[in-house]
Amino acid sequence: MNYNTGLFVKWAGGDVEICQGDFEIACADVKPGDFVYFDSPYVPVSETASFTDYTKEGFSLEDHKRLAALYRRLDSIGAKVMLSNHSVPLVHELYEGFKIEEFDVRRAINSDASKRTGKEVIITNY
Ligand SMILES: C[S@@+](CC[C@H](N)C(=O)[O-])C[C@H]1O[C@@H](n2cnc3c(N)ncnc32)[C@H](O)[C@@H]1O
Repeated sequence: MNYNTGLFVKWAGGDVEICQGDFEIACADVKPGDFVYFDSPYVPVSETASFTDYTKEGFSLEDHKRLAALYRRLDSIGAKVMLSNHSVPLVHELYEGFKIEEFDVRRAINSDASKRTGKEVIITNY
């Protein structure tokens, strides 16, 4: 069982609600036409970095699969869904079939300055 939770923000018109909980709870009342953005914990870029070492939240491979399943569920009910992550094979696999836009980013942390760049993706279903 994973008890990790994050903060999320919901708003409708002028009403803003800040909550804490798992992403499944955050999306329990999503309706057709709603817009959902997941700024999800990153999948590790290197093969040597483990999921739990890489993110202090310890977001596991199972969590990434659970999030991708939720993304597909929200897509199937007619919500508009956006998610960002590193451009790595696992992310392309999990979100296969959706629109995946890749872009270059600068990364602040790497002892080798030439490796302070990378690719991320924005995935949408619209
Ligand atoms: C890439 S960060 C996003 C940061 C945020 N957008 C911001 O600007 O501060 C990923 C976030 O996912 C949250 N998180 C971790 N596990 C989660 C879960 N099971 N459900 C929802 N959010 C989770 C983390 O707490 C972290 O804040």
